[in-house]
Amino acid sequence: MVGVYLSGTGNTKHCVEKLVKILDPSAECFPLEHNDIIQILKKHDTIVLGYPTQFSNAPFMVRELIKNNSSLWSGKKVFCLNTMGLFSGDGTGCTARILKKYGAVILGGLQLKMPDSVCDSKMLKKSIEENKLIVKAADERIEIAAEQIKSGNFPREGLSFIAHMKGLFGQRLWFYNKTTGYTDKLKISDRCIGCGLCSKNCPMENLKIENNKAVAGNKCTMCYRCISLCPKQAVTLLGESIVEQCRFEKYV
Ligand SMILES: Cc1cc2nc3c(=O)[nH]c(=O)nc-3n(C[C@H](O)[C@H](O)[C@H](O)COP(=O)(O)O)c2cc1C
Repeated sequence: MVGVYLSGTGNTKHCVEKLVKILDPSAECFPLEHNDIIQILKKHDTIVLGYPTQFSNAPFMVRELIKNNSSLWSGKKVFCLNTMGLFSGDGTGCTARILKKYGAVILGGLQLKMPDSVCDSKMLKKSIEENKLIVKAADERIEIAAEQIKSGNFPREGLSFIAHMKGLFGQRLWFYNKTTGYTDKLKISDRCIGCGLCSKNCPMENLKIENNKAVAGNKCTMCYRCISLCPKQAVTLLGESIVEQCRFEKYV
């Protein structure tokens, strides 16, 4: 077994690592941007795939990796794990359907409510104490799900037809243009000091430092990692200014 995840602010990393550790203490977990990710995926038959919901869809980076390596999935057993701030509908189903098309066996799905990661919007913002409770509740759900999986009873959250309709009509359709590809809308303000933290951490290598300032390209997968890490709060995407630099570590 292997755990593979895309995680901007740390929520999904935590959830995948926790689930995988309970299921198989000897199994490892890797971020999607790992240089050898394709070899890692090829090597393992059972994969826990985790990612954050974005407008009730999977991040483009995740969908692209699946599609660009379509021959890789035949016969793989995949458990989809999706984290969300509030609602994803069929967050797990978004990748499960593609994976199934390429021959994967979908073992199940788990959709976990976690702290919101959109640092430059007031929507869904909770106090640190409230977020701590959300993380605790997610941890408990992971523990329960792991026990179910161990006894062969895989949760199937987000995989039903009803979940599909909920995700599609609840959100995905209305925000479709936001998730059809990568975005070039990442903004760097004059506060940037060119420290390079964003460029070192971007899973898409979408940022570089030029003349002591960060410059963003057009391949942002909206994970909010750079935005949550910037020491000068100089990076924004959907909003105009930082409300809170959401990071999983703050909530444990
Ligand atoms: C661009 C963007 C869109 C999001 N859309 C949704 C959404 O539609 N529904 C939801 O419940 N959470 C949404 N979220 C919140 C994240 O899915 C959630 O906070 C997730 O746990 C972040 O995981 P990470 O820390 O691994 O990146 C969104 C976050 C981002 C950055």
